[in-house]
Amino acid sequence: MLDALVAYEDIAADALAGLTATPKTLPSKLFYDAEGVRLFDEITRLPEYYLTRTEMALLKRIAPEIASLAPPGSALVEYGACDPTKARILVDAAGADFAAYVPIDVARGALEALAAQLRTQEPGLAVYPLCADFNHDPVLPAAVRGMPKFGFFPGSTIGNLEPEVAQTFLAHARRTLGDGAWLVVGADLRKDAQTLLNAYNDAAGVTAAFNLNMLHRLNREADADFVLDRFAHTAIWNAAQSRIEMHLRSLARQSVRVAGTMVHFGKGETIHTENSYKHSISAFQALATLAGWSAANVWTDPDMLFSVHALRADSAR
Ligand code: AVJ
Repeated sequence: MLDALVAYEDIAADALAGLTATPKTLPSKLFYDAEGVRLFDEITRLPEYYLTRTEMALLKRIAPEIASLAPPGSALVEYGACDPTKARILVDAAGADFAAYVPIDVARGALEALAAQLRTQEPGLAVYPLCADFNHDPVLPAAVRGMPKFGFFPGSTIGNLEPEVAQTFLAHARRTLGDGAWLVVGADLRKDAQTLLNAYNDAAGVTAAFNLNMLHRLNREADADFVLDRFAHTAIWNAAQSRIEMHLRSLARQSVRVAGTMVHFGKGETIHTENSYKHSISAFQALATLAGWSAANVWTDPDMLFSVHALRADSAR
């Protein structure tokens, strides 16, 4: 199943475009090959990585309230859905009455496995998997077009998008889900720098392995010859932009071949591999409002680590 996750083919071209730019970058979607998916799963269980467990506990607590927002017979549309655990919390909540589930993800294999699993576990739910990049404004299956729509975008994945890309995504979702729709979004909150830095630079080194795996992947899939111990994982808190940045720092002056092109590194030069924006509640609501949504409700855990927003597509707009 995991092999099918590698659904993405322009790896060498994307990698070269980023590595020949100044400053050097690599796209964070390159993290998620089979090994990257496994490492991310390990990250979600680390003591320092509070995001996943906090969001899960929060969702369990507020699921009946969220589910009660959806009119009976709604279609639950999940963006970036290779794991159905969070959607099932909503579907199984007291009072929930979803007629259909549309998981949207680029990973075809994971989607098919998820659909097969849910058809047995949730026999009352019609499952329509949609293999698409949620950034490219996917068209919903005809079978759900007449149903009220309830969008769901958990996991703080929205934090990986540049704010203007996040706004475009939200505006597309507003149009696709239609007037009267809801969209529930999980977003990590801005907080003290040390808590954030620990979450992205854990003591066991799993996040470092996750970051370095990108180079390992390029060696295997883009004809590259990175020597992994000549690079080091670094996480930086960029307060001005309210984001955690992950980089890979070159420990020496060196040259690396990538898909037939030589890429030169100065000692200490970095490759920027990920941004993880931490939106305050008001900043997120402002972004959503610009995209045509009304901020209807927001919930947080008692420690204010993580937020879940309920957005409404008012028909008046
Ligand atoms: C899956 C995008 C939410 O940004 O926290 C985890 C990915 N990167 N550790 C995040 C990630 C480093 C994660 N998201």
